[in-house]
Parts: sequence; C-alpha cells; structure tokens
Amino acid sequence: MALDVSAVRAGYPALADGYAYLDGAAGTQVPGCVIDAISAAYRSGLGNAGGAFPASKRSDAITAECRRAVADLVGGTADGVILGPNMTTLTYRLAAALAKSWQPGDEVIVSRLDHDANVRPWVQAAQRAGATVRWAEVDLPSGELGAGQYDALLTGRTRLVAVTAASNVIGTRPDVAAITAKARAAGALSYVDGVHATPHGPTDVAALGADFYTTSAYKWSGPHIGAVVADPALLETLQPDKLIPSPDTVPERFEQGTPAYADLAGVTAAVAHLAALDPAATGTRRERVLASMAAAQAHEQRLFARLLDGLAAMRGVTLYGSACLDPTTPPKAHRRTATAYFTVEGWSPAQVAAHLAEARVNVWNGHNYAWELTGVLGIRAAGSAVRAGLVHYNDRSDVDRLLASVAELAG
Ligand SMILES: Cc1ncc(COP(=O)(O)O)c(C=O)c1O
Repeated sequence: MALDVSAVRAGYPALADGYAYLDGAAGTQVPGCVIDAISAAYRSGLGNAGGAFPASKRSDAITAECRRAVADLVGGTADGVILGPNMTTLTYRLAAALAKSWQPGDEVIVSRLDHDANVRPWVQAAQRAGATVRWAEVDLPSGELGAGQYDALLTGRTRLVAVTAASNVIGTRPDVAAITAKARAAGALSYVDGVHATPHGPTDVAALGADFYTTSAYKWSGPHIGAVVADPALLETLQPDKLIPSPDTVPERFEQGTPAYADLAGVTAAVAHLAALDPAATGTRRERVLASMAAAQAHEQRLFARLLDGLAAMRGVTLYGSACLDPTTPPKAHRRTATAYFTVEGWSPAQVAAHLAEARVNVWNGHNYAWELTGVLGIRAAGSAVRAGLVHYNDRSDVDRLLASVAELAG
C-alpha cells in the first residue's frame, strides 16, 4: 500500500518548523513516538545492567528488546546484534578485533565508493598488522562499483572485504550479494556498511551474504545509536579488547562501558514506527517492516524521479552518479537510493547550500566523508558538491522548494 506522507509527517514534531528537511542522509528527524519512548524509559526509572531490582531489570529488558528490534529491521539474529554509540566507533572496535589474527602479507579490500568510516578503520588496522590494502574502484561516470573487479582483487590471502550497501552521496547500491559471495568463496569475511542503505528500503542481511552488517538508528528516525549485526557463532571466534570484569558473552563482549539505555528504548520505538509506515501491513514485526520499507522506497523513488528530472533539466547543474538516469532500464530504483549529489555552475557548493538555507531547505555540502569518492571525482578541492537526500517523510513540496531555489542560481 502507498505511504500516507501527510500522516507520517504529522508524527514528526520537528517537521512543523516549515523547513524542507532534505538532510536525512546526515541524520533524520525523530517522530514523537521515539521521543516519548526515550522519555518514558527515563520516567520509569533505569538502573545499570544485571541488578536484582526492577529498574535494573527494566534496563536489561530494554537492551534485549532493542536487539530484537534491530534484528527484525535488517533480518539478523538478536544475539548477534552489537549495540554502541555509532557505526564508526563499532567499526574501529571490530577492525581491531578482526586484525588480531592478520599477518604480514594478508590482504584487505576496501572501496572508493565507501564512506570513510568503512575505509580508514580497515586501512589503519591493516597498516598495523603489516597487511596489504587493495582498492575496488568506482566506474565513472556511472558511479557503479563493479562486482566483477573483485575476481582480480581477491586472493588466497584476502582476510576481509569492506563494502558499502549504498553510497551516502551518490546513492549507488553495489551488487553486495555478488561481492560477498566472491569473498566467501575466497575464504574472506565481508563487512557491509548499511548505514546509508538501511533507511531506503527492505534489508535482508542473509540475502546480502554479509558476515557483518552495520547500521545507525539516527539515519532511520531513531536516536544516536549504532549497531553491527553478525552471526553469534562468528562473534564467538573473536576476542575484542575488554575490561576483565565486563561480560565475556556474545554480543556483550563487544560493547564497551554502560549503554545509553533510554536511547535503546528509542531504537525499538523507531523500528515500530518504520514497521507501521504501511498501515495495511500485517504479520510479524519483521513482515511489517519489509512491507513498510518497500512502501517507503516506492515513495522516495517517485519523489526522486521528480528531483532528478528537475535538476537534470537545469542548465548549469551537474549531477553525480548517473546509475538511475537511464529511463530505459526500469528497476534502476533499486540500484540507487534517493540521494542526489550535484553542483551548480558559477556557485560553490557552500554558496548553493547557503542559498537553499535562505529558502528554508536543509541540504549538506561538501565531501560528507565520502573522502575517496570525492577525490576520484576530482571535486573535493573545490568543495565537492551539494547533497539532497530524500527519506520517507519528505514530500513533493520539499522537492519543489529545492528545485525552485536551485533554479534561481542555475537558470
Ligand atoms: C554510509 C555511511 N557509513 C558510515 C557512516 C558513519 O556512521 P556513524 O555516524 O554512525 O558513525 C555514515 C554517516 O554519515 C554513513 O553515511
């Protein structure tokens, strides 16, 4: 069923301020039900984990429920959901744990499409271990990350392939399942960055073949919490650095310090919110999530076509990442998230973003940590580009406001 965007928007207090929030790729707004869940957790009394008294048991229950919710969102196992402050912190932690067994001469593969959070932790861990870093390249101008190149990149020494499920600037969705299958066949593990992909459609970690899948709740209407999802049996094989008295169980041994319990309650509420985006969806929470995220994707892609068509028609606008601009190949929608990255001739990206801000349109300008990609695109030194990202709560008026404002500069 189609998503009722006015009803969705009514649930987000922040959207009432009159701005067009096209900055969702950097972090979404939060619906009232998530704010209420966080507030209710604090109001009910929380304690540290593992105590005999009810407030402590509430924290334990919140954590367990949060793991189940994240597992339902992406299709994993609750016992394999590692929770933490954000994806970057967790990825550094996993990189350190995995690299303990790397030897000089081992190899890791990273990509130039990825956000730096799925590049630098691996590069730096490889440097420490004396391992070699190999790079998967982005095809230009298509913006595709070809799966075929991994045949030549993988060797018997490859220990890990880090790849994104979607670019956070040009939206490209590589064929992750093909890449992880090749990695597995070569005996390597895969670490898939799902931070940008998760909010934009149904996710099935098993179908992606990801050994590790990362996501960040603040990109999908939740609080600032990150998660890594993996098979608990795989996590059992790893020994991260940890304090002596902290739990040695999986997944807790990967979680450092005291968690943000109230925020974890907000994560569960965010998954409930996403599961209800398609009001006609029925069944388990997982089934409702899949139906609702498909409805969200269809909604975003309809708006995105309008956004791209509008920008492409403007003299002076250059769009990056053209994978879905070819109307002759229909389900291109699934190959690119609703994320536009563009420049306007004669104006710096910072000037464009400032102009849009005056029109009450929120967008980001710059490399957005897509460090390698903006380098190979040759735009980083000049301020990279402007990013306008759509999520499920954006509507046509958001897009039209952006187009009208860009048109004032681009003609
Ligand atoms: C694709 C992608 N990966 C990783 C990150 C880093 O996530 P976090 O802020 O949770 O560390 C981001 C954040 O923007 C992102 O967009």
